[in-house]
Amino acid sequence: MSENSSVVRLLNDDLTGEIEAILVYMQAHFLMEEQHCPTSLTMLEVALDEMRHVQWLAEKIVDLGGDPELTPRKLRFAGKDLKTALQRGVFLEQEAIGQYNEHIAAIAEPEVQRMLAHIRDEEKDHLDEFKELLEELEEAEADRKPTVGDLTDAGQDETAER
Ligand SMILES: [Fe+2]
Ligand SMILES: [Fe+2]
Repeated sequence: MSENSSVVRLLNDDLTGEIEAILVYMQAHFLMEEQHCPTSLTMLEVALDEMRHVQWLAEKIVDLGGDPELTPRKLRFAGKDLKTALQRGVFLEQEAIGQYNEHIAAIAEPEVQRMLAHIRDEEKDHLDEFKELLEELEEAEADRKPTVGDLTDAGQDETAER
């Protein structure tokens, strides 16, 4: 296998991961939009970032004489609720960061390494964003849990004190 074809193979592997992320985030975008959830916009913005990554990777693959593979790997969609969508996002971004790090180490060409490092850094931003939203959601869930006070006079007393 020539030097170029082994690089093309790795970049195509990255490309299929990006395609999966786009489809998963677009599905989450539509589902969240239906539920009037503001996170639908975040999902769309992240999917658009992944589309730029697809463009950079595909251009590099063509430069190296390869064919971009646009068939997604087996899709792992999230559930229909915001929490599982964010958890899926965290998983996919962590997986992508790990894979980009491996490929940066495996590829000798500085230009390709720089491109992959740039993409990896954007995946880190996505990861931070998803984690932050997940934490906010979990905090809101914890606040919403009924307490004993909600069901007894203690809850009413608390209101009366204000
Ligand atoms: Fe990406
Ligand atoms: Fe990402």
